[in-house]
Amino acid sequence: MARCFVTRRLPGDALGRLAAEHEVDVWPGRRPPAPAELRDRAASADGLLCLLTDRIDATLLAGCPNLRAVSNLAVGCDNVDVEAVRARDIALGYTPDVLTETTADLAFALILAAARRLPEGVAAVREGEWLTWEPGWLLGRDVHGATLGIVGLGRIGRAVARRAEGFGMTVVHSSSNDGLPLPDLLAAADFVSLHCPLTPHTRHLIGAAALAAMKPTAILVNTARGAIVDQRALAAALHTGTIAGAALDVTDPEPLPPGDALLEAPNLLVLPHLGSATHATRERMADLAVDNLLAALDGRPMPHAFAL
Ligand code: GLV
Repeated sequence: MARCFVTRRLPGDALGRLAAEHEVDVWPGRRPPAPAELRDRAASADGLLCLLTDRIDATLLAGCPNLRAVSNLAVGCDNVDVEAVRARDIALGYTPDVLTETTADLAFALILAAARRLPEGVAAVREGEWLTWEPGWLLGRDVHGATLGIVGLGRIGRAVARRAEGFGMTVVHSSSNDGLPLPDLLAAADFVSLHCPLTPHTRHLIGAAALAAMKPTAILVNTARGAIVDQRALAAALHTGTIAGAALDVTDPEPLPPGDALLEAPNLLVLPHLGSATHATRERMADLAVDNLLAALDGRPMPHAFAL
């Protein structure tokens, strides 16, 4: 029987399967363990099931001499120091595929919500402003027939492209080895939706120059990782009208500190990282994460091993 530390309660019964075979310590809080708490609770663990809000770095790993497996409940593993994991020969698992369609749904929801000004409409109804209805009120932008620029045509990017076809959109894409050069995509798109992983190459990929290359009527949508966008440049672009709006499910950092300057920007919609947040998908992610941990602790390859 191995010892496992799980950094948050999980939906569904996946943790029951883990607890049937191993000793399981689950962090009880709603907030992530602070780095010192994580080090403390993980110190004697053989297996760690963590979330994208947990930093798994060399310092943490150095304090966990028995650790054999890290199972990340996410498709992105930018919270994990992959080099440090590789150096210690620790298995690393992630949860791809099961969240693709759910995250694509949310990206599309953001496109629609920003284009049609849904948050402003909801606020107006609540605040009694509906009385001022007139033909020029709360006019948005058409999604049907518009051009969608997808940056990063992986699993989720392709799923967003399929949805866009149903809306009669023209889809263009730009990837590291394929599609349009990024400046051409930015100049052509009415909506730019980000679906690339966060890497040293994509950090601040969307900065002042990229935003200036976009149409002044365009909307930026980010369901990938916050740091792909230079948020200072984005706030400036929204204030000056360089672009028409932005809808973000991810920010840097998460959560955004109260009073963060980005939140003062106009035409901005921010969600608290809900991309994969449906009952069914989060239960599937928990299942995959537990399958990965069970396999590695049993000496088998993880079914969803992150390429190290
Ligand atoms: C969500 O952002 C994930 O990587 O699973």
